[in-house]
Amino acid sequence: MPLPSPDAIAAQAHLLPLLRAALKAANAQRFDEAERLTQAILQQAPAMADAVHMLAYIALHRGDLTRAEDLAQQAITLDFHFENYHLTLAQAQLGRGDVAGAKASCGAALGLNPAHVDTYALLAKVFMAEQDAESARAVLYQGLTYEAENPELLFTLGYVEMERGDITATMAALGKALDLRPDDQRIRLIYARALRRYKLKQPDPALLERVLPLLGAPGISPRDLAGVVENALRFDIGIRTLKKAAEVPPEKLAAFMFSPAFPALGENRTLLAWLRHGIVGLAVLESIFTALRRGALWLVIGKPLALETHEIWLEALAQRNFHADYLDPETAEERERLALLDQQIAAAIAAGSLPPPGHLAIYACYRPLYRRADAAALAALRWPAALRDLRRRQLDEPLREQAIAAALPALTPIEDATSRHVREMYEESPFPRWSQPLLGADATMGQVVRSSLPRQRLPDITVAAPQVLVAGCGTGLHAILAATNYRDAQVLALDLSRASLAYGKRQAEELGFNNITFAQADILQVGALPQRFDLIESFGVLHHLRDPAAGLAQLAQLLKPGGYMMLGLYSEVGRRDVVAARHLIAEHGYRDTPDDIRRFRADLPRLDAALEARLRRSSAFLSLPDFRDLVFHRQEHRYFPEQLGPLVANAGLRFLGFELSESAHLRSYCAAYPDDPQAVNLAHWAEFERQNPDLFANCFRFWVDKPV
Ligand SMILES: C[S@@+](CC[C@H](N)C(=O)[O-])C[C@H]1O[C@@H](n2cnc3c(N)ncnc32)[C@H](O)[C@@H]1O
Repeated sequence: MPLPSPDAIAAQAHLLPLLRAALKAANAQRFDEAERLTQAILQQAPAMADAVHMLAYIALHRGDLTRAEDLAQQAITLDFHFENYHLTLAQAQLGRGDVAGAKASCGAALGLNPAHVDTYALLAKVFMAEQDAESARAVLYQGLTYEAENPELLFTLGYVEMERGDITATMAALGKALDLRPDDQRIRLIYARALRRYKLKQPDPALLERVLPLLGAPGISPRDLAGVVENALRFDIGIRTLKKAAEVPPEKLAAFMFSPAFPALGENRTLLAWLRHGIVGLAVLESIFTALRRGALWLVIGKPLALETHEIWLEALAQRNFHADYLDPETAEERERLALLDQQIAAAIAAGSLPPPGHLAIYACYRPLYRRADAAALAALRWPAALRDLRRRQLDEPLREQAIAAALPALTPIEDATSRHVREMYEESPFPRWSQPLLGADATMGQVVRSSLPRQRLPDITVAAPQVLVAGCGTGLHAILAATNYRDAQVLALDLSRASLAYGKRQAEELGFNNITFAQADILQVGALPQRFDLIESFGVLHHLRDPAAGLAQLAQLLKPGGYMMLGLYSEVGRRDVVAARHLIAEHGYRDTPDDIRRFRADLPRLDAALEARLRRSSAFLSLPDFRDLVFHRQEHRYFPEQLGPLVANAGLRFLGFELSESAHLRSYCAAYPDDPQAVNLAHWAEFERQNPDLFANCFRFWVDKPV
């Protein structure tokens, strides 16, 4: 919010303190207070343009676009010569889909002040709304001539270049924006997203230095950073010497680990950070570390003291293996040696002393410490600082989750046989496995819904503090995303699985999100709950119900009239590789047990190498619970787009459109089907999906509303 104009300050100086207080409240998003103060000003000075503009600004940020537009027009009528009024008007017009009006208002603002860089940033968004990335780019460059280091312009330029498909220019603009504002979460997020598309042919040490601080940062998915980090590791000289480790018998590997020629993995900063925070996706890294774990096990039994030099990287590997939930295959001999190690560790704990750190680290590379029968006694011992993270991740946190799980409220019974069966699976394998939360846009509900459905003509959405239901929240990643996406939201997060809910609740508490309530419930029975919601999200859930339509009808009952719902349902076309994997699983008789899941994953390159390569691109390939969810699910329905229409209509809901990961897809659809400008014709979408089978990845993500 800009400062008041000089004229207003001179004429109504006695109101200045009130205006400043209103401004402060508005900037802190205390809009009720800002409005009260502004109305008090207007009682004394009804024609004070700045106060009228303040109301417009407040309405804009509350999502009341019609009122914002009206008030901004009034402010302009009172005082035309202030570019910010035109900018506010343009923002309201753009929000309401009046692209021509927004463009004219930006023109008026720039006519008054050609150096007004905020207007260039908005004008670029106006051009983007017209699918005109070239003009958007041109105005941003024009803005940059006035202020070459403006982070907002550079940020918008990065976004526009990404839409234009110029990844080099995207990285350049966003890299500069990030250097200027390293803590700006929006810039970090879009930079990380851009990295995913950036294909490196050789290592780029400067880029790696920029990327490493993002690793482990809240909101940043390690998957986005995988290309840069794993590329650096692939070319690392030390790691390259281990390329053939899987072919070396464990006793020889143990001898090599004992020799000075073994690379100093404990000093490899990138490797340690990646094992602790990343998700190891490179097959070669996976096979190296499966072999090294085996070598270390031989070493610990044969020459226990020699293990000391390996403690640091073993501790980091234990973090990775815990996170992946031990999805690497084990041999029978390894199990025998592990049993010996287990006895040694148990004896030390029974004697009241902490086992040697290396012993604990290598054990934790195979089994989670909290599952030991003597876990409580182990947790009660004094641990060295070097193992603090291991202790936290493998003992303290899971033990706390067990206590949380036992105390969670149950809002409905779980009676349906399929729900019970599915619940059992997610109690054993909570999904998804995550360590860094994904953070939302912190925008009004109206802004989020509008930006998800750019082709829809939506009414004003003025809900200020939405009641949000996340139905089937899993391990809380989704609940935290929703709680940070919708400003001032109160979130109820429901799931069948107590283990999943407890994981989410612990994480949410530690991260300081206090607007989420976690509770156990079966969607099939939620219709009886007393609450009603402005918005419901249920992603990747209803297709696991015996009767998804019955579940959707229950959710529809909880939605307020005029409310919105975001749903994620499996696509039959998008999941064709999963279907192929499921056929292989059935054909070869793999069972839904951890051992068979590991075995299938390890056998897959031999069974169908091309399929393995394609599935490996999914992050679900990289941990046991997620892989189980991907290809071993006990219950799943899949859909073609034309089936979604009747499904939502039968629940009294209206289909509003798909949310696609790439806006270029929506542009292509609209170009191919000009008779469907709102992009809601499901027969067209079915045809379009057949032509572009990866359009939706695994899952349709779409919005519906409940007509008033
Ligand atoms: C694939 S996970 C999706 C989790 C989360 N929505 C996400 O996107 O990360 C499916 C979740 O739905 C839950 N679920 C399945 N059937 C359910 C039901 N009938 N009622 C409540 N939750 C259910 C499962 O327990 C599981 O945690």
